[in-house]
Amino acid sequence: MLSPLRHLGNTSIVGMQWGDEGKGKIVDLLTEQFDFAVRWNGGSNAGHTVKVHTNGVEKKYAFHLIPSGILRPDCTSVIANGVVIDPLKLLEEIDTLITQGVKIESNLKISSHAHIVFPYHKLQDQLGEAAAGGGKIGTTGRGIGPCYADKANRSTAIRLVDLLDDDRLKAKLPGIVEQKNLLFKALYNAAPDQLLEWEPMFEQYRSCGEQLRPFVTDTTRLLHTAWKAGKRILFEGANAVLLDVDHGTFPFVTSSNCGTGLSVGTGLPGAAVNSTIGIVKAYSTRVGSGPFPTEQDNEIGKRIRERGHEYGTTTGRPRRCGWIDAVALRYTAAITGATALSIMLLDVLSGFDELKICTGYALPGQGSDCTTDWFPADAFELQHVQPVYESLAGFPEPLEGITGFDGLPPNAKHYLARLEQHIGVPIKIVSIGPSRHQTLIRP
Ligand code: GDP
Ligand code: IMO
Ligand code: MG
Repeated sequence: MLSPLRHLGNTSIVGMQWGDEGKGKIVDLLTEQFDFAVRWNGGSNAGHTVKVHTNGVEKKYAFHLIPSGILRPDCTSVIANGVVIDPLKLLEEIDTLITQGVKIESNLKISSHAHIVFPYHKLQDQLGEAAAGGGKIGTTGRGIGPCYADKANRSTAIRLVDLLDDDRLKAKLPGIVEQKNLLFKALYNAAPDQLLEWEPMFEQYRSCGEQLRPFVTDTTRLLHTAWKAGKRILFEGANAVLLDVDHGTFPFVTSSNCGTGLSVGTGLPGAAVNSTIGIVKAYSTRVGSGPFPTEQDNEIGKRIRERGHEYGTTTGRPRRCGWIDAVALRYTAAITGATALSIMLLDVLSGFDELKICTGYALPGQGSDCTTDWFPADAFELQHVQPVYESLAGFPEPLEGITGFDGLPPNAKHYLARLEQHIGVPIKIVSIGPSRHQTLIRP
């Protein structure tokens, strides 16, 4: 099935919207052809659901920190330096996957330089959001922002290598916990029972370090050796370009360069990547706060949510739903240099009389004939634009049972062709259901 994609070389998988595009499904599918699957950014804010049918039985896996490539025992899965690791969540994820029959042994490698999410990061995230009131970002509460902030701050940061050495951990943790408690009291008026003690934390996290020790290595060296040896490497970007801290809809973004930080997050140069597949939902969704020009806060949005089961893998929050936005996608294709697109969840759109593609934005106070086709990646500008739509006839046919690209209904093909024209990047993969076999690869 994957033979039309065999010339991709080392491939980066990137979410092109606001996350949850179906990256996990495509990583799982493609890793059949790869030696390494590398996660390089974000933390347990990500949630990737993968469904696999074997002999008519469906198995469902949820990934937060481990690359979806782990389902392929011959592929080495790497959590690289750019990821922020909550070790409690990671150990829980490892246990759950082993219980589900997944091999996690020497096929998992974790960077000693990855930064560690501690309980004070999660508390800081949650107290900060609660105090922000109407200005909150709508984070996942997983401590991602505070952990990346401490990484940039350096003196308050702890990396995985520090968990493996009692002296290093003991030299840092007490002072950091003291600083955090002062901050919680001063900024958030934290109650005494919300304050944290370093000693139990030290015992718990050194024990996490011991459990993770067999997997820990210098992943930068590992990846360079693999690259030089001509091994095939797939890169799994978590989150998505519109959540990128520099290029997303700031400030309603996450705290990593999820669209652009592959080299930072792995230590490999850009030249190590031969292809970039942009993962695109056939419509748009967003979790958390922030502008969303094509949002349908109405019956259309509700119908998409119910048909697409649009509830978060990580937090269970209902996702905001709307029409696909070609202005945003042209921008994210430019930012990532996407060489091909994979259109996901096309089956969710079957049965709509009309489908809409946003092709431009009308600018505030300048009339609908004054449009921009460049995405204003600033939340305060973006909240004022008005989407301009192209309307297309829907396709009533269900897509189940279709086995080839040519078998798609004519109106579905027309929708894809218009998207391709508006975005300017070829569509190579179309997904019509959550399972591996529900994937159409363009010949
Ligand atoms: P990720 O974060 O980008 O990996 O995406 P999520 O896993 O958070 O969300 C995508 C959801 O869509 C998951 O529940 C997948 O099982 C599901 N999914 C993926 N592709 C398709 C598809 O083509 N059709 C349908 N109906 N569901 C899909
Ligand atoms: P995957 O990998 C969807 C969003 C959060 C919030 C903002 C900041 O599954 O596509 P954070 O906790 O990161 O500080 O939250 O970013 N967000 C995601 N939304 N999918 C994700 O990951 C996300 N990762 C972060 O909802 O709006
Ligand atoms: Mg997700």
